[in-house]
Amino acid sequence: MQANIVLLPGDGIGPEVVAEAVRALEAVASLFGHSFVFTERLMGGCSIDTFGTSLTDETLADCQAADAVLLGAVGGPKWDDPAAKDRPERGLLALRKGLGVFANLRPVKVHPALIDSSPLKPEKLHGVDILVIRELTGGLYFGWPKGRDVKDGRERAVDTLEYYDYEIRRVLELAFRLAAGRKKKVTSVDKANVLESSRLWRQIAIQVGAQHPEITLEHVLVDTAAMRLITGPAWMDVVVTENMFGDILTDEASVLAGSMGMLPSASLGANGPGLYEPIHGSAPDIAGKGIANPIGTILSAAMLLRHSLSLETEAATLEQAVAQAIHDGCRTADLGGSLTTRQMTDEIIHHMRNAER
Ligand code: IPM
Ligand code: MG
Repeated sequence: MQANIVLLPGDGIGPEVVAEAVRALEAVASLFGHSFVFTERLMGGCSIDTFGTSLTDETLADCQAADAVLLGAVGGPKWDDPAAKDRPERGLLALRKGLGVFANLRPVKVHPALIDSSPLKPEKLHGVDILVIRELTGGLYFGWPKGRDVKDGRERAVDTLEYYDYEIRRVLELAFRLAAGRKKKVTSVDKANVLESSRLWRQIAIQVGAQHPEITLEHVLVDTAAMRLITGPAWMDVVVTENMFGDILTDEASVLAGSMGMLPSASLGANGPGLYEPIHGSAPDIAGKGIANPIGTILSAAMLLRHSLSLETEAATLEQAVAQAIHDGCRTADLGGSLTTRQMTDEIIHHMRNAER
């Protein structure tokens, strides 16, 4: 097949890890006889520097017209001025909104060989295989009103946690569909004891759950969910939650996998291209050194193959090659090893070429 993939390497280590994921995708293309056409665009801090805005209309249009978008990371100290009109992160949020990718899939699996890389006790980590589905285009990130003003002589800041029923329903429906192909259990995370938006969330979760009697639905308050992720992560399967709860819980969950550098994500909408990115940030402290872990981005590329191009065998082959490389002891610095970004990718490509198919 032929596919058009827009690359948004972004800032910091973004360009280094995206370059390696492209090499992995090219290896997949040559092994399976596909042709992927890559178009690179600026987004984030690098776009502010070049175009004066974190996301140009042209770049958004190119992304909308693509089959899929692969992103590295955005942000860095250079653009951290709180008074700045634009920020790298704004470009990312505008891109998510502009692509309508309301469901952010963040799988968290613990590779047996990495159990000792996590600060958690090994017995907590066996069998951990969680799929967090984070609502991505609503909630506190986008609610209105938002901003600063002066009220009663005091400076005030406002963010609004806003959800429409249809925004909650569509992400919950996806969670139940995906749970049907897994352990048939959905954990819906909210703060229904305090927040009105969470009470609507829970009400809709119950409605959607009623249409899927074969799937067990449990409601867990977000503070309890944060605790359970550490005390009993093996009991969680599909976890679905609103935007900011999901942002926080997935950073926490990444600790289970041994390193934030391991975790991929896929952001999907009703139709149109998916957006694929590692969950880690731009890591300015190690940028340019060639030592970043490329696995989060390579596994994001595997999700791209699966969800946007329907290439399940290719996706699984790439994932197995990553697992095999980890099994064989390949480690970048974040995992206590000394492989460079490029060497880690070489190992993965090597395993893919040698895999029996
Ligand atoms: C993430 C990041 C982003 C978010 C930032 C960079 C805006 O933390 O993808 O998890 O909060 O969504
Ligand atoms: Mg985050």
